[in-house]
Amino acid sequence: MPLSGKHLLGIADLPVADIRLILNTAKSFREISERPIKKVPTLRGRTVINLFYEASTRTRSSFELAAKRLSADGLNFSVSTSSVSKGETLIDTGMNLLSMSPDIIVIRHASAGAPHMLAAHLKGCSIVNAGDGMHEHPTQALLDALTMEDKKRELAGLKVAIIGDITHSRVARSNALLLKKMGADVWICGPPTLIPVDFASYGVNVTYDMKEAVEEADVVMMLRVQLERMKEVFFPSVKEYFSLYGLDRKKLAWAKKDAIVMHPGPINRGVEIDPDVADGTDSVILEQVTNGVAVRMAVLYLILGASEEGSK
Ligand code: CP
Repeated sequence: MPLSGKHLLGIADLPVADIRLILNTAKSFREISERPIKKVPTLRGRTVINLFYEASTRTRSSFELAAKRLSADGLNFSVSTSSVSKGETLIDTGMNLLSMSPDIIVIRHASAGAPHMLAAHLKGCSIVNAGDGMHEHPTQALLDALTMEDKKRELAGLKVAIIGDITHSRVARSNALLLKKMGADVWICGPPTLIPVDFASYGVNVTYDMKEAVEEADVVMMLRVQLERMKEVFFPSVKEYFSLYGLDRKKLAWAKKDAIVMHPGPINRGVEIDPDVADGTDSVILEQVTNGVAVRMAVLYLILGASEEGSK
């Protein structure tokens, strides 16, 4: 069964049935990455272009590996050495890439809405959002959900505390939207300067008190302080930020005994999380990365199935 749509632009418009389908498909794809020969012919002859206008370690590598493990032809488009540096626009770049007949373009861009703009202009292929500005990062939320299900079985009823720089976090938005759709009890926490007012409209609990967010939580998800997106000062000092909102062993003790610690990466060690906790036994941070490959395999596979249905 394919996804309901041709593109994956965000969690906001993704039906619960599609979320469930992606998670279940990812679970079935996981064993491919555990084989000595990590390859199946499923997407042989299909073409996936990674178009990343922003830096990435995890997302770009896992989309590339996902395409390779499904036998698709992958192209990593290098924006910094492309004609983007000569002023070529996003749409012109997209239209030129489309002329080479890709099946999927995976895009990361600093501007919110860039994937949606490509989807509106490029009629011949599917678009996957790999992070657009401070808006959404849907595949991150999906791999986070898969990791939570692995550890906690069911998302419904879980208390999930999402803590840190919420304002600049597309991960926070996609996670809040997905977890609410799946019935979790979501707590958003950070300094008042780093929590946008629109978050309350997602039906999540908003608090500036880390103890209230973490107390009896099943999942503590820490977010990076995104200094590169800050044009002004949002908190007085890193030391004060860590003392109020950084996760150390003392604050983690407020959560349930079997709580898991998550972080989408990259980590600012000693800013939002103590290295002792990041590398500790409660941390599932590297399992999130492993699940990223399976989720992205599922997304590529299901989207191509959907576009085949659509072209019938
Ligand atoms: N989590 C995440 O998006 O990491 P990268 O920026 O390294 O892709």
